[in-house]
Parts: sequence; structure tokens; C-alpha cells
Amino acid sequence: MALLVVFLFFVLVAHVSALDACPKCGSMEVPYPLSTDPNCGDSRYRVYCNNDALEFLSAGGFFYKILSVNPTSYKLVISPPLIIENTCSSSDLILGGLRLDENLPFNISKRNTVMLLNCSENILLSPLNCSAYSFCRQFEDADEGSGCKGKLCCHFLKDASMTSHQIRVRVGGCTAYTSVVDIKPDDPVDSWNYGIELQWLPPN
Ligand SMILES: *[C@@H]1O[C@H](CO)[C@@H](O)[C@H](O)[C@H]1NC(C)=O
Ligand SMILES: *[C@@H]1O[C@H](CO)[C@@H](O)[C@H](O)[C@H]1NC(C)=O
Ligand SMILES: *[C@@H]1O[C@H](CO)[C@@H](O)[C@H](O)[C@H]1NC(C)=O
Repeated sequence: MALLVVFLFFVLVAHVSALDACPKCGSMEVPYPLSTDPNCGDSRYRVYCNNDALEFLSAGGFFYKILSVNPTSYKLVISPPLIIENTCSSSDLILGGLRLDENLPFNISKRNTVMLLNCSENILLSPLNCSAYSFCRQFEDADEGSGCKGKLCCHFLKDASMTSHQIRVRVGGCTAYTSVVDIKPDDPVDSWNYGIELQWLPPN
């Protein structure tokens, strides 16, 4: 009971002092306008606090863990979906990968290098880097990508030339993907910043 009172007190203080920001989720701050609850934040910027983990819900209905939030640059980074062990399937493959609701104020930023794995040959027609020097070859040598080894893979910078609401995978196309934020050509693979950076349109 005493604990509950202390807890409620802190929730109340957090509300008053942060002007509408939501309470922390686990150890993570939930800065305005992100909203975990109808009583705080701005409801158009809905995120979820599930078991003390802050998560983002895609249009397909898949939850992605939020790794970091930067309210001053209007950005957050979500975790790429796991590649199911000993396979080359992203855990959101049945949903076609990541799809953002175009009616919501979030899009995919221009700093993500996306790696597509286990691709079929017809992908070569598109302007991707599928060479032996593609970053995806280094990912395949790392633990999580090892189930994709020896298959065709490619990378590309997800810049302004393509849709900013989707990273697509499908059986018969590419069946897995990952993403690294702000990759530098000479960075060793163990220093890569795995994530998908999203940005939001600031509220008026
Ligand atoms: C995402 O939206 C922001 C704000 O509307 C815009 O400036 C930016 O160019 C968009 N990003 C992409 C990759 O389209
Ligand atoms: C593909 O990417 C690698 C790594 O950044 C780069 O060294 C290589 O020149 C690129 N190849 C093509 C054809 O763009
Ligand atoms: C690679 O993709 C093909 C078809 O797109 C699929 O049948 C196969 O299971 C995938 N391989 C792995 C290791 O997941």
C-alpha cells in the first residue's frame, strides 16, 4: 500500500513537472509528444509500454522495440526484427516487413542502410549494391545473419529516392533484412549501430 502511494506520488509529480510527457516506461523516458496512454503525450504519436519495454506498432500489427528517443531532433530508433535462428526469415516476414501507417506522423529517416538477405535473382534489376563488397556480406559473417550465408544479398541507403514508409520483404523476393543507422564504410561490423531510425513531424 505504501509502495502504491509512493508510486502514485511519482506518477503525479512526473505529470506536473514534465507538462504532459508520459511517465517513464521501465528505465526509458517517454518525451512529449510520444504517448503511451490517453492521459499524456499527444495521441497521434502513440507508442506502447509493454512489460516495461517501450515499443512501436507498425501498420501490419507488429511491435518493434524502441531503442532510443531523441526529442530535440524528432527521432527514435527501433530495433530491426529478429532473424529467426538457423533460418533467413525476419520475424515480420509474414507481414511483408515493416510498414508504417501513412496517416501517422512517422516516416523512415534518410540515415538507414538497409540490408536485404536471401534475395531472388530478379532483385538484381533494381539499383542496389549486391556486390561481393556489400555490407550485407559482413552481416552474414556475424552471428545473427549466419542463417543467410551464401544467398544473394544487397544493401542500399534508404534515402529520399524511395518510399519512406516501408521496408519490404517477401517469400520469392528477399526473406530477411536488417538496418544500420549512419553506417560508415570503414566501421567494423561489431561497432554498427543496428536500428531503423524513424522521424516524426513535430506537433504544431
Ligand atoms: C519524413 O518526414 C519529414 C517531415 O515531414 C520530411 O522532412 C522528410 O523528408 C521525410 N523523410 C523521408 C525519408 O521522406
Ligand atoms: C558496394 O558497397 C561497398 C561498401 O560500401 C563499396 O565498397 C562498393 O564500391 C559498392 N559497390 C558498388 C557497385 O556500388
Ligand atoms: C530463402 O528464400 C526462399 C524463397 O524466397 C525460401 O524458400 C527459403 O526458405 C529461404 N531460405 C532460408 C534459409 O530461409
